[in-house]
Amino acid sequence: MPMHTAIFPGSFDPFTKGHLDILTRAVSLFDHVIIGVVRNPAKRNLFTSEERVAIIREVAASFGSQVSVESFPGLLVEFARLKGARVIVRGLRAVSDYEYEAQMALTNRHLAPNIETFFLMAREEVAYISSSVVKQVASFGGDVSGLVPALVYQRLTERFQAHPHD
Ligand code: PNS
Repeated sequence: MPMHTAIFPGSFDPFTKGHLDILTRAVSLFDHVIIGVVRNPAKRNLFTSEERVAIIREVAASFGSQVSVESFPGLLVEFARLKGARVIVRGLRAVSDYEYEAQMALTNRHLAPNIETFFLMAREEVAYISSSVVKQVASFGGDVSGLVPALVYQRLTERFQAHPHD
């Protein structure tokens, strides 16, 4: 039986409960899920890619060897090819996600026709969560403890205590 590896890519700045829900669903479908944290020096992130990888490794530790976490520097499809993955997993929330996701999925298909994008929907309780809103609320001292895993909440609190309104 072939070993099905899926890549779950994203910025994950930071990793939210919505991401965790998608990851849990992906784990139930694929033998191995690689969380690919994009390394994009042009984008001003709250956490470096090394920090994001370390945080997600800890959050996903309970999945054991079925989940691994790595950062990747360039094209997603190149990373997928390198890892022998034929599936890219993305979460879909509202209709507003569709255009961006369709553009990415079709571009990736153009670049690598044998790689498929799988869209999964998070459960509705967490479907509205976005990393950018989490960052904004946390930067103004709002309570985001219900929106992110406990470790991410701790790291966000530390970050904004050190640099308020970053
Ligand atoms: O969490 P995000 O920021 O919506 O994730 C976007 C991501 C990382 C999946 C996307 O920007 C990406 O794949 N970047 C790598 C560069 C690439 O392959 N671009 C072509 C596909 S549009």
